[in-house]
Amino acid sequence: MAPVITCIEDLRRQFRRVTPTMFYDYCESGSYTEQTFRENVTDFDKLRFRQRVAVDMTNRTLKTTMLGNEVALPLALSPVGSTGMMRADGEIKAAKAALKYGVPFSLSTMSICSMEAVAEATQAPFWYQLYVMRDHEYTNNAVDRAKACGVSALIVTLDLQILGQRHKDLVNGLTAPPRPTLSAIADLSTRWRWGLEMLGTKNRSFGNIVGHAKDVGNLASLTSWANEQFDPRLDWDKVAQLRDRWGGKLILKGILDPEEARKAVELGADAIIVSNHGGRQLDGALSTIRVLPSIVREVKGEVEIWLDSGIRTGQDILKALALGADATMIGRAYIYGLGAMGERGVTTALDVLGKELDTTMALCGRRDIRDVNRDILLVPEDFEGRWADEPTVG
Ligand code: GLV
Repeated sequence: MAPVITCIEDLRRQFRRVTPTMFYDYCESGSYTEQTFRENVTDFDKLRFRQRVAVDMTNRTLKTTMLGNEVALPLALSPVGSTGMMRADGEIKAAKAALKYGVPFSLSTMSICSMEAVAEATQAPFWYQLYVMRDHEYTNNAVDRAKACGVSALIVTLDLQILGQRHKDLVNGLTAPPRPTLSAIADLSTRWRWGLEMLGTKNRSFGNIVGHAKDVGNLASLTSWANEQFDPRLDWDKVAQLRDRWGGKLILKGILDPEEARKAVELGADAIIVSNHGGRQLDGALSTIRVLPSIVREVKGEVEIWLDSGIRTGQDILKALALGADATMIGRAYIYGLGAMGERGVTTALDVLGKELDTTMALCGRRDIRDVNRDILLVPEDFEGRWADEPTVG
């Protein structure tokens, strides 16, 4: 009997049951102690809503815009590496679900299906997330390929020039596709549907890289590839060069500080993504929901502010909007659905979040998502944290 899905956590449990351990663990890890990974989720719980009663709740709408385009709810799918290992052709399935639902999809540089394959399968614009590689010819080519594919916005990720260690990936010997070790074979034998679907697709390696990058060495391992190929010299000047080469809508991902939000505005970004990479990079960084208010104070109205990292419920989306985010993004919350049930699972995840958001907004006395503001929220006085100034020397 098909499991009853009531919430994103139900999808996570189902995803875990049907997915090879190494890919489930890749998704469900943070770096090092996983403090930031955990706090991204638990810090939402510190905020509370103010209930409003006897308010007309008819004619509610969750519609808003992202980069000037209408979206069904204030949400986009974040770029997630190896999505096509969570489920065969995962990027194409997620992009199709997002398109039908009316929310933007973003494709990672480290996706399994190439940008050309996604463009051909969906026949619709999507966003492309760029990792800047040492091989500048590859990077420039990727920007040009994105233009040729009709990509409608470029996301430059700024927080992954080197990779934070995720212990489980080392223990599991993560590769895409998996190497046939004894433990991988034992694990795969209980995940037969995953294996059968994988046998039915040709998309089983990093499609944006293979055939496009010179001297592709140890590509099967994301860790080795990142260490060898990602450009550790990426700086704001290089971002400005990419902006000029691209010439279209630009989104900067990995902003976690008001000063850097200001730089993004000066650079002409159309949107920033307040993100700590789902707690996968700087362990010990603040959760995104805690840094959001300081970024909102600095740049609200000058650039679209989107929050990702930690969203698992519609209530989380509403809290982020109430604190000033213009929209939100999800990674794991849709990957759970994809791994659990393919395209239908992504639609289910979006449906769950949309319904939770709609009901919670109504119970807070609002009918239009664009009218949500800080008034619906109770925020603890110490929510942002009071951090000591740098000690003065002498
Ligand atoms: C890639 O972006 C990762 O976080 O693994």
